[in-house]
Amino acid sequence: MENVYLLDLIHGISSALDYVSTSVTGHHRRVAVASASIATTLGLDSDNTTDLIMAGLLHDIGAFSLDLKLDGLDFDADLTEHSLVGYRLLREHPLLHRSSQMVLHHHTPWQDLQDNPGEIAKETLFLSNVLNLMDRVDILGKVGIKVFDREHIRSAISNYSHVLYAEDAIDAFMEVSKEPMFWDRMEDKESPMREIIGTGFHDQYIPQDQLLDFSRFFSQIIDFRSRHTATHSQGVAETAVQLAKLAGMSERDQRRMRLAGNLHDIGKLAVPVRLLDKPAKLEPEEYSTMQNHASVCENVLRSVPGLENISDWACQHHERLNGKGYPHGLDETNLSKGSRILAVADVYTAISEDRPYRDGMPPKKVHSVLDSMVDSGYLDGNIVNLLMDNFELIDSVRLMAQSRALSEFKRFRSK
Ligand SMILES: [Fe+2]
Ligand SMILES: [Fe+2]
Ligand SMILES: [Fe+2]
Repeated sequence: MENVYLLDLIHGISSALDYVSTSVTGHHRRVAVASASIATTLGLDSDNTTDLIMAGLLHDIGAFSLDLKLDGLDFDADLTEHSLVGYRLLREHPLLHRSSQMVLHHHTPWQDLQDNPGEIAKETLFLSNVLNLMDRVDILGKVGIKVFDREHIRSAISNYSHVLYAEDAIDAFMEVSKEPMFWDRMEDKESPMREIIGTGFHDQYIPQDQLLDFSRFFSQIIDFRSRHTATHSQGVAETAVQLAKLAGMSERDQRRMRLAGNLHDIGKLAVPVRLLDKPAKLEPEEYSTMQNHASVCENVLRSVPGLENISDWACQHHERLNGKGYPHGLDETNLSKGSRILAVADVYTAISEDRPYRDGMPPKKVHSVLDSMVDSGYLDGNIVNLLMDNFELIDSVRLMAQSRALSEFKRFRSK
């Protein structure tokens, strides 16, 4: 299986959020970089530093699920809500559990954390307040202007009350922000993040047995943004694996196919929820925003060392054999078997499941739609035949995967 570093994968996912709006570009990365710097000043150990950096990279992920207005990054009235949604999205994964607790309180005033500490460890609450402060530093830097007015920000923060931010957090910020290096690192858009943040964190591979599990977990973050897509990636992944098996691909490739299926719509993190939820056909401009998810997929997966291999399979699911697909208009001369399988799995799942503007199609209709797409040169006839010849098996496996995903979604929504 592929070797993937936790930092690279989370950084990739966090960068997908940047595409939603130019006003958020780089926000997560800057907050994470600032957090890494202040972690050194605070003398945090590598585990605490790592959890804080991960929280920085993902802290506003809940806002992208709520479709809040992102301009200005203040989310005014929705501070509590996006923090809570982010926490719920992240808390189930052991590698992100502590980061999720920091996300939960990344807008909670320090005094409230003192008065009602709840079940979360004191140290974690303090780190959530540090995250809160680093978020504030970036917002004070004025979104859009990428050169910070350093003295202005320092003086604003030094005047903040200790009701909002812990005295130790403010002191550490005043200390670290004296150094031009603190700001230079935040402003550095080019260097790989690992180079900027140095060695203070725990740089770990995602354990081999956990990578699939991790990709499945992220498929939920992608899908749960809309009830209409809530189970899509699970259906696609399961179908693609079945087809890969039937097509004689090795077990290793079947595992890679599952990974690609789980992540194939990662670019949809950059599509506003209102489009995912739209109960009618999309307008041309909206459609091109939607189509953009295939390019975002490439940018994201190719940026994660270890996932380059699956990025073609995952991100070419809208390419068509006749060259009429997107994003590149590739054709039968350059689409691999894996990419063709994922394209069939995606179409089959999409037409079989309910969508905002229509119900899922019954099997007969599914057959005829797939047939006509083969006739017009959109999909690979051999792969579609494999699906047709094994329809009952594949359909039941897909349904099972999607109904399991649906119960997970309901559990997510109900808490
Ligand atoms: Fe936030
Ligand atoms: Fe933020
Ligand atoms: Fe897609």
